[in-house]
Amino acid sequence: MNGVETISTSARAPEDGSAPLLRARGLRLAFGLTEALRGIDLDCHAGEIIAVTGPSGSGKSTLLHVLAGVLVPDEGTVDYDTVRLSELDEAGRSRLRLGTFGFVFQYGQLLPDLSAVDNVTIPLLLAGVRRREALRRSDSWLDRLGLAECSRKLPAQLSGGQAQRVAVARALAAQPTVLFADEPTGSLDSLAAETVMLALTEAARDANTAVILTTHDPRTAAFADWEVVVRDGQTTVGGADG
Ligand SMILES: Nc1ncnc2c1ncn2[C@@H]1O[C@H](COP(=O)(O)OP(=O)(O)OP(=O)(O)O)[C@@H](O)[C@H]1O
Ligand SMILES: [Mg+2]
Repeated sequence: MNGVETISTSARAPEDGSAPLLRARGLRLAFGLTEALRGIDLDCHAGEIIAVTGPSGSGKSTLLHVLAGVLVPDEGTVDYDTVRLSELDEAGRSRLRLGTFGFVFQYGQLLPDLSAVDNVTIPLLLAGVRRREALRRSDSWLDRLGLAECSRKLPAQLSGGQAQRVAVARALAAQPTVLFADEPTGSLDSLAAETVMLALTEAARDANTAVILTTHDPRTAAFADWEVVVRDGQTTVGGADG
């Protein structure tokens, strides 16, 4: 399985002993009576690719949102480097999301009226990158993801896999240190899913970007270094029932 290892606890140290970039401890979050997260620990090191798997409703998306500072947990902590997310206000968390984290969703969520290249370039311009540099980065990322010929097309003129690769280019062009991807291949057939995952993982490894993705698909999970299985809001040993 491509070197994927399923682990019982996701709080672990790499062989070189380096500190994790993102460190979560004891995460709990309830939506009313639904306990979506029931005590989750997770470490993610720079450049590491982690697949979060588990049944529908087990808490994967909720976990991703808490790790990214989109949702605030009821209990537990998330530390990014030396920053404790719970000690930031909403504006501080928002700055971290815009400047440090990248996001890819199941349906790329491209802006429908903008070409592929504009979808990648405009967020860079909004983040204050100069036009020439923004265009250089967009062209280079679209090229890396095999999309040079598609750069002038509108999202509706792209295949699902191409559109998803544009979404990956857009996320990586912002040079995030952690990329969060919720079911990035969930709307794709297996060939397109493989193309997207190859592009995503190669590009992320080259840029030393950590990736935390959720997936139902074992073939997508196989691209990760580690698989974290979530069941009923807790991490468990893969394949076990409890
Ligand atoms: N905003 C919300 N309000 C209320 N309940 C929610 C909300 N978001 C998630 N839940 C509940 O929390 C639990 C975990 O949901 P979550 O979306 O994290 O699961 P998931 O593992 O991502 O599922 P899927 O594989 O279907 O995407 C579910 O029981 C879900 O119904
Ligand atoms: Mg989900």
